[in-house]
Amino acid sequence: MIKPFTFIDLFCGIGGFHQAMSDLGGTCLYASDIDADCRKTYERNYGIMPDGDITKVDAADIPAHDVLCAGFPCQAFSKAGKRLGFADSTKGTLFFDIMRILEHHRPKYALLENVRNLASHDKGNTWNVIHESLETAGYNVLDEPVIFSPHYIGVPQHRERVFIMCVRKDIGELPNFYFNPENIPGCSIDDILLDDAEIPDLKAYQLSGEQIEWIDNWNEFIRGIRCDRLPGFPIWSDSLCAVEDNPMIRSG
Ligand SMILES: C[S@@+](CC[C@H](N)C(=O)[O-])C[C@H]1O[C@@H](n2cnc3c(N)ncnc32)[C@H](O)[C@@H]1O
Repeated sequence: MIKPFTFIDLFCGIGGFHQAMSDLGGTCLYASDIDADCRKTYERNYGIMPDGDITKVDAADIPAHDVLCAGFPCQAFSKAGKRLGFADSTKGTLFFDIMRILEHHRPKYALLENVRNLASHDKGNTWNVIHESLETAGYNVLDEPVIFSPHYIGVPQHRERVFIMCVRKDIGELPNFYFNPENIPGCSIDDILLDDAEIPDLKAYQLSGEQIEWIDNWNEFIRGIRCDRLPGFPIWSDSLCAVEDNPMIRSG
């Protein structure tokens, strides 16, 4: 059984970390997100109004906590962005705001999350900078970033992300994290969809004819390129699954 603990939720969005941490018995002491709509939603979800721009927050104004959670912005690392990484003078440097707060409070644990591409960005240099910064600050971090996706545990969403688990060196070592990809349970979107009859105000959530057409077109495209892995975005940057004889690719 996990003992009660406290956490902070940096770059909180609408509260993915909050949901998981409070389900495990955690109490949130502080949250921050620059986006006003996220803050409003977070408050409605969890009764805490997050602070705004973290770059403007003095670490001393954040309460001491056991776990620092941060799903920091991924634009600078993601395949969908320009991939500037730390050279991105705004979003790429937000990792160092995490470091500033971590070094001030020295919580027992930190759990950071980012896009899968962070692991290989800039030929691994980005990961090396992150790893070294955390190690130098006195945290044990696994040598390789952990890649995990909800569908690995039967949740019907393919969303591979890098998770960086950190434990303060005086607390102990990180357990080995091993996931056997052969053990991925089958799952289907039908497992989580509600019946129409169970949805109040159904019309507000229904797709328009035009939106259904977009999805049909997208599905047709995916079938056409005969990708045997789930298409991430943007698939064309990965050479369209390299299907040599695909007429849709040649004509596209
Ligand atoms: C990848 S999302 C995190 C999503 C979150 N884990 C969730 O469950 O919704 C990154 C978040 O960082 C926020 N953000 C970007 N720059 C920020 C800044 N300077 N200060 C605080 N939040 C910021 C964005 O508004 C966005 O919601």
